[in-house]
Amino acid sequence: MKISKRTTELGTETAFDVLAEVNKLKREGKDIISFCIGQPDFDTPQHIKTAAIAAINEGKCGYTDSAGVFTVREAVARYLSRTRHIDVKPEHVVIANGAKAFIALSVLCTTDYGAGHEVIYPNPGYPIYESQIIVNGAVPVPLPLVEKKHFSFEISELEKRITPNTKLLILNTPHNPTGGILGEDDLREVARLAKKHDFWIFADEIYSQIIYDKEFRSIATLPGMYERTIVSDGASKSYAMTGWRMGFAANPILAPAMARWITNLEACGNHMAQYALKEALDGPHEATNKMVKSFHERRDLIVGLLNQIDGVSCISPGGAFYAFPNVTKAVKRLGLADAEALRALLLQNGVAVLADTNFGARNPEDEDHHIRLSYATSKENIVKGLARMKAIIEQKQTAAPAQTAAQTGAPTKAAQEVAVPNSS
Ligand SMILES: Cc1ncc(COP(=O)(O)O)c(C=O)c1O
Repeated sequence: MKISKRTTELGTETAFDVLAEVNKLKREGKDIISFCIGQPDFDTPQHIKTAAIAAINEGKCGYTDSAGVFTVREAVARYLSRTRHIDVKPEHVVIANGAKAFIALSVLCTTDYGAGHEVIYPNPGYPIYESQIIVNGAVPVPLPLVEKKHFSFEISELEKRITPNTKLLILNTPHNPTGGILGEDDLREVARLAKKHDFWIFADEIYSQIIYDKEFRSIATLPGMYERTIVSDGASKSYAMTGWRMGFAANPILAPAMARWITNLEACGNHMAQYALKEALDGPHEATNKMVKSFHERRDLIVGLLNQIDGVSCISPGGAFYAFPNVTKAVKRLGLADAEALRALLLQNGVAVLADTNFGARNPEDEDHHIRLSYATSKENIVKGLARMKAIIEQKQTAAPAQTAAQTGAPTKAAQEVAVPNSS
């Protein structure tokens, strides 16, 4: 029996492969400090858990409307109207089991299978964009992000990629894996092009509340843009609720179409979890504020420590909980092929990170190499892990060839010997 071609060719989050490798090494007793995980290291706030327990006890256990429970959609509409400064009606809102679902739904609702419809998406970027574009029969058109623009893109590069077949542009701000934020001017230019060439926007705003130096801005806020923008957000990152699987999206035209897809795919979002989502959005935000403050401090800590490593430079990310340092000089001096080889070397020496290649194929014109570190981990881990990383990278510049350390499978002597400074 054969498995379909599209299944065998289906993309994935290769970060999960790295995670499996990390867990295997941990099981073997290796001491690994991990910067891989893309989820808050906080527990879901108690008032949210209590609301879900109450919902279960009140019998909120059956199917709901495919678009979601109306009062929960009202809460989402209030939240989106308040934070995006637009008039979102509950009828525009659809709830799903995680915001991830809306990536596929936006491709399904705006392109036809095999019709040559093109979707432009950020590279590097969340790998599910590319896999869902391809498996749903559209044409993937990667848009390179540039470090000198703080991981935004050149508008001229976007313009070059727009054709009469362009149906959808995916934006992600704050951005995974770079932590970059799309600036007001770029959003305005994108809006101009979207109107001129008449394409949809999928605004992946899952990290909208995890932003440090600026106020969050959505492209949907710009005049005339909400109609053509699928605004997607959720509970996973902002309320430490990744396992609850609660995401939502809003668009005045596409909401009924997305709800119909949900009828086909999963019937509805988890009933009791929808009440947890309602409480998260309507209830007190102290826990989120505290979490974001903590991420902010950790960002400053990790960026400072990364910039102290010879051969590594890191711009300060404006949001999410990822740092995306440039490791080109370190890779070259260590005689490694790319960031993936550095990732493997670091892992074998007790530090787990992801490589830029985990977020899409490298642009052949781009000579730079990057790795991603999630700082959703304690300050103590950050200090310890970065000391280890510094020792590995700087020792390698003068000592044994990289392959030797990678083959040993154990932390290098220098990595083991690094003193961990006080993290307070
Ligand atoms: C950019 C981006 N979009 C969407 C998601 C999916 O989030 P959810 O847990 O709501 O499905 C993630 C999760 O890592 C993400 O990084």
